[in-house]
Amino acid sequence: MTEKKLKIAVVGLGTNGSMHFKQLQHMDSVEIIAVADPLIESRKETLNLSGIPLLTKDYHDILVNDEVAAIFFFTPSSQHLQNIADAAKAHKNIFCEKPLSKDGSIAECKATLEKVKEAGIKLQIGFNRRFDPQFKQIHERVKNGEIGTPQIVKVVARDPFVIPYDFIKNSGGLIQDFTAHDFDMLRYQAGSDIDEVFIESSILIDPKLAEFDDVDTLTASVKFKNGALGLIDESRKAVYGYDQRVEVFGPKGMLKAENVSKSTVEYYNEQNVALKKPLDYYLNRFEEAYLEEKSLFIKSVLEDLPVICTGEDALKAMCCSNAALESQKIGRPVKIQY
Ligand SMILES: NC(=O)c1ccc[n+]([C@@H]2O[C@H](COP(=O)([O-])OP(=O)(O)OC[C@H]3O[C@@H](n4cnc5c(N)ncnc54)[C@H](O)[C@@H]3O)[C@@H](O)[C@H]2O)c1
Repeated sequence: MTEKKLKIAVVGLGTNGSMHFKQLQHMDSVEIIAVADPLIESRKETLNLSGIPLLTKDYHDILVNDEVAAIFFFTPSSQHLQNIADAAKAHKNIFCEKPLSKDGSIAECKATLEKVKEAGIKLQIGFNRRFDPQFKQIHERVKNGEIGTPQIVKVVARDPFVIPYDFIKNSGGLIQDFTAHDFDMLRYQAGSDIDEVFIESSILIDPKLAEFDDVDTLTASVKFKNGALGLIDESRKAVYGYDQRVEVFGPKGMLKAENVSKSTVEYYNEQNVALKKPLDYYLNRFEEAYLEEKSLFIKSVLEDLPVICTGEDALKAMCCSNAALESQKIGRPVKIQY
């Protein structure tokens, strides 16, 4: 029996979109029938786009294609809200990268999510770390009560190098671009919404970031609505690789996920003990998570199941980011306005 395939379109084939596109090409549950990117001509040189019936510079050409059941948006963050509104109007199911919006207008986000609801379509946002096998295992074991109700949740998120300025300039900055992931991870692990956030931030790595009103080093301390506490530790440059760790502490114990390395072989001699470095970048560290988030979204659409990381989840992360920006400005804890 042939399994049903979801007919999909992919919009945006940059660094992240190219990785997703290649994964989608190998998935049996989908057929890519359209692709859009203003740079489609140069994308043809780096990706295998042969056999895809519609290749276009303008994704609006995809919206009018009745065969397309779902659209995957890997576009710049400044476009996400418009992308979602357009696709909802065209009654397409949507997978869209995080964050929900670059500038954080909560009213606009809510209005857009209302359009999604009215259209009766599915929307999943790409907070991929929820789908990482290690972090997901922690979440499930916390839910099973293995450590009791979480009292402290900690996230370490450090990039291996400062990403290109052109991206940073249009990303919404460290808080909208990176910390949004970590606010989502804190909520996901704590099982409670965040009530209050306090930010401390600095430029310790790259002075040029001041030109974009951005920072490279940040800590966030949060209080959840149920009284539990959370901590985020973020850097734009860890010299030893891509550092992504999570720890949840409760009355009955602790669950902790360390970094993932290519090899588990440790070398011991008289002077040193050597471990392999962590996987070096998000593209390989979260490869499984990226695959899993798309597989589950596709399954949700094909089998009409709820999606795991919803527009409302992304809205909550956005509300946290907005409060974090305010806290960064005034130097005091700020209550989250949902
Ligand atoms: N979840 C994650 O781990 C993760 C990781 C990296 C990036 N991202 C997110 O993915 C998004 C893209 O990031 P990136 O690093 O690939 O950026 P990028 O600049 O490398 O790529 C963006 C691509 O979108 C294309 N594009 C621009 N406007 C378009 C339009 N109107 N229609 C179609 N295509 C258009 C560009 O030509 C480019 O190919 C961002 O929102 C970023 O926050 C998420």
